[in-house]
Amino acid sequence: MDLSRLWLGLLLPVLAALDFRYHHQEGMEAFLKSVAQNYSSITHLHSIGKSVRGRNLWVLIVGQCPKEHRVGIPEFKYVANMHGDETVGRELLLHLIDYLVSRHGKDLEITNLINSTRIHIMPSMNPDGFEAVKKPDCFYSNGRENYNKFDLNRNFPDAFEYNNISKQPETLAVMKWLKTETFVLSANLHGGALVASYPFDNGAQATGALLSRSLTPDDDVFQHLAYTYASRNPNMTKGDQCKNKMDFQNGITNGYSWYPLQGGMQDYNYVWAQCFEITLELSCCKYPREEKLPFFWNDNKASLIEYIKQVHLGIKGQVFDQNGNPLPNVIVEVQDRKHICPFRTNKFGEYYLLLLPGSYVINITAHGHDPHLTKVVIPEKFQTFSALKKDFHLPIQGKLDSILVSNPSCPLIPLYKVMPSHSVATRPGLFLFSMTLLLIFFK
Ligand SMILES: *[C@@H]1O[C@H](CO)[C@@H](O)[C@H](O)[C@H]1NC(C)=O
Ligand SMILES: *[C@@H]1O[C@H](CO)[C@@H](O)[C@H](O)[C@H]1NC(C)=O
Ligand SMILES: *[C@@H]1O[C@H](CO)[C@@H](O)[C@H](O)[C@H]1NC(C)=O
Ligand SMILES: *[C@@H]1O[C@H](CO)[C@@H](O)[C@H](O)[C@H]1NC(C)=O
Ligand SMILES: *[C@@H]1O[C@H](CO)[C@@H](O)[C@H](O)[C@H]1NC(C)=O
Ligand SMILES: [Zn+2]
Repeated sequence: MDLSRLWLGLLLPVLAALDFRYHHQEGMEAFLKSVAQNYSSITHLHSIGKSVRGRNLWVLIVGQCPKEHRVGIPEFKYVANMHGDETVGRELLLHLIDYLVSRHGKDLEITNLINSTRIHIMPSMNPDGFEAVKKPDCFYSNGRENYNKFDLNRNFPDAFEYNNISKQPETLAVMKWLKTETFVLSANLHGGALVASYPFDNGAQATGALLSRSLTPDDDVFQHLAYTYASRNPNMTKGDQCKNKMDFQNGITNGYSWYPLQGGMQDYNYVWAQCFEITLELSCCKYPREEKLPFFWNDNKASLIEYIKQVHLGIKGQVFDQNGNPLPNVIVEVQDRKHICPFRTNKFGEYYLLLLPGSYVINITAHGHDPHLTKVVIPEKFQTFSALKKDFHLPIQGKLDSILVSNPSCPLIPLYKVMPSHSVATRPGLFLFSMTLLLIFFK
């Protein structure tokens, strides 16, 4: 890299191309198209589908090779405004885009981040809802739902209960999108509270529901992820900033302990798309006045960047057969961290496992073969812009790529039917239940 350019960039203030006001669909599109044009080598703009009213669901990708996946480069995403009246995340993501592209080649940290990560940014998953809100309002408004009056964060398949809700175009577009990329890490930006909430949002006895919580086998990683975000946001980390609402220690919470919900997007990402997702509640007021936006950007900038870097936690690599051909669809999991739908290699034979430093046993199982167990140690000081890299060569003959396009061991019937514990699962106690009535309209 040209060092003189780097120094110049650090010394000169970066001129903001984007102002602090709400951008409606037209203004948002104009901004995204202008970014895609001015920074064409590191960005790619595409629409993953349309809302009920035919508005595009735009995603801007930032990365060294923005148009396609490269082996070893993890896929990261941010999605905002799935509740149309929760608007802070939508504007923050536009500012994040501006920040990333304008510092590429000037700021070493951002340059490294873009070089090592493919970052997908969707400022609005519910553009119809946003346009339906008449004026800024701190509380629930009809713009929460999509045009057909469906809450999109209750509209996904659910691992614990049968979710008999008709899938909306916005939901179907996201479900299809998740199949096209191997997303590793994600966050979903909301408003109405100030907290980083992690899976599960729904649960059963097996996940801890009797104790008013619902934990994944990756709970240590999820707590770390939520803490990474909350601890860098000066108001979120205090945990008690929204008046008359719940206190959250360190600004983080398990989704189910806060209040259970069915058909949420974060559980869906984790269970069906092997993507770790958390839910970020960024503002006590859902739709604050635009004069407040610079303060929100200031409070969230460091968190938004640091959270993206977490996609490089743990270990990654490829699985090959004895002839050096990559093996897709092979189960790669850590022993004692079995997922409801086992995590599998993608079509390039790649796996990504988000793990904190420590020693683990990796269990690799190709269809029809014995499990292959290997001990690995994730060092204390992980490299910031790459997970530990480890490829595996299995002593088997390939020809496995013919197997199954869809994930064969992912339950097609709802899990609760096969979980013996379901019938005795309970909801959190009466106190929490009454809190639920007050809080039900946030995440
Ligand atoms: C793109 O470049 C044009 C012309 O220099 C400029 O007016 C515009 O603000 C730029 N847009 C962005 C988003 O950087
Ligand atoms: C970008 O990343 C690759 C590895 O993915 C590395 O070899 C290269 O040096 C990096 N380039 C810059 C400019 O950091
Ligand atoms: C799903 O919902 C429809 C209409 O709300 C209802 O008629 C149907 O019985 C439900 N199916 C199941 C399996 O619950
Ligand atoms: C965070 O809290 C401080 C002190 O209460 C307040 O001045 C600031 O505006 C808050 N930040 C946001 C984004 O609301
Ligand atoms: C390894 O993974 C396979 C497939 O999920 C599983 O059947 C097996 O029990 C696991 N073995 C160990 C020792 O964990
Ligand atoms: Zn929300």
